[in-house]
Amino acid sequence: MTSLPHKKLRVFSGIQPSGAFTLGNYLGAIRQWVAGLDEKENFFCIVDLHTITVPQEPQDLLRRTREMAAILIACGLDPQKCTLFIQSHVRAHAEGCWILNCVTPVGWLERMTQYKLKSQQQESISTGLLDYPVLQAADILLYDTNEVPVGEDQKQHVELARDIAQRFNNLYGETFVIPEPIIPKLGARVKALDDPATKMSKSKAYIRGHAIRLADGPDEIRYAIKRAVTDPGREIVFSDAPEKAGVNNLLEIYELLTGYTREAIEAHFAGKGYGHLKQEVAGVVIEALRPIRERYLSFIADPVELDRLLAVGAERARAVADPKIQEIKRKVGFIV
Ligand code: TYM
Repeated sequence: MTSLPHKKLRVFSGIQPSGAFTLGNYLGAIRQWVAGLDEKENFFCIVDLHTITVPQEPQDLLRRTREMAAILIACGLDPQKCTLFIQSHVRAHAEGCWILNCVTPVGWLERMTQYKLKSQQQESISTGLLDYPVLQAADILLYDTNEVPVGEDQKQHVELARDIAQRFNNLYGETFVIPEPIIPKLGARVKALDDPATKMSKSKAYIRGHAIRLADGPDEIRYAIKRAVTDPGREIVFSDAPEKAGVNNLLEIYELLTGYTREAIEAHFAGKGYGHLKQEVAGVVIEALRPIRERYLSFIADPVELDRLLAVGAERARAVADPKIQEIKRKVGFIV
């Protein structure tokens, strides 16, 4: 028996409660999540099981998980309009991961770019780090997800989820919807301010000048943008040239937050210097983050209410994931 078809397009995405939430997360993912709230059926998950694939201080993880919930709500993920929940509250994710492990060749996992990168940074590599994308596939597939809005760095993982779904469907019969990664045209890969050849990263956000963090006040934002790496040239133009990556990144941030056209932006900055560009970008970022930060501070001040909202979210998620995991177990021949 397959799950009942659902009418609205179903969306699932996740974010790790690791490091500090950055402008990259906001522009690459969360803005898209918020934009789809009214017309789609949305599940957003704070993926704590994924986060422990690299060592975490338990007290930090606990704090950051609540902070992430407060940030997401502050960004506009109204818990009345979407299902916002914590991954470990819904057991089907871990169970689903195990069953999907058994149809996933280990070679598929060893090829994952993020695994290769992250495993280089660890002294001892956990089995969980290798298995990370299978858990991500379970997250997505349990909800009969149509669309997975993510930044560019997660595309490979969503494609793997498609492969795993297809393989399971071939082995056990039609069970999973094949999900589509939805990558924004703009903002899919916001670059690090201190190294525009790399992405702005939550896990490196503790390095001063690397990222713009939601928690940053105006002074810190101005500092980070003022120090942003640019090139020795003078031209303020959108460009794919590697040496212009720093200026291009600042311009894209400006474009995303103002909504102005590229022509208008280039005309606006024509003849001006990088110092001027940085000042204006900082001003736009400060104004965009100010209301989010203010709302965040009010939500984080009430952890009891946050936990209540997350408990409601978990219940709604279980209402979808639990029947699906039963279906999966039945398909593989378990007594359910
Ligand atoms: P995470 O926590 O690293 O990032 C959350 C989202 O932010 C996007 N992102 C960026 N977008 C643009 N520019 C950047 N510099 C940037 N940095 C991060 C990410 O692409 C992501 O969309 N494995 C996932 C979490 C996950 C998940 C899932 C996602 C677990 N299960 C199921 C989708 C579906 C991750 O670590 O995201």
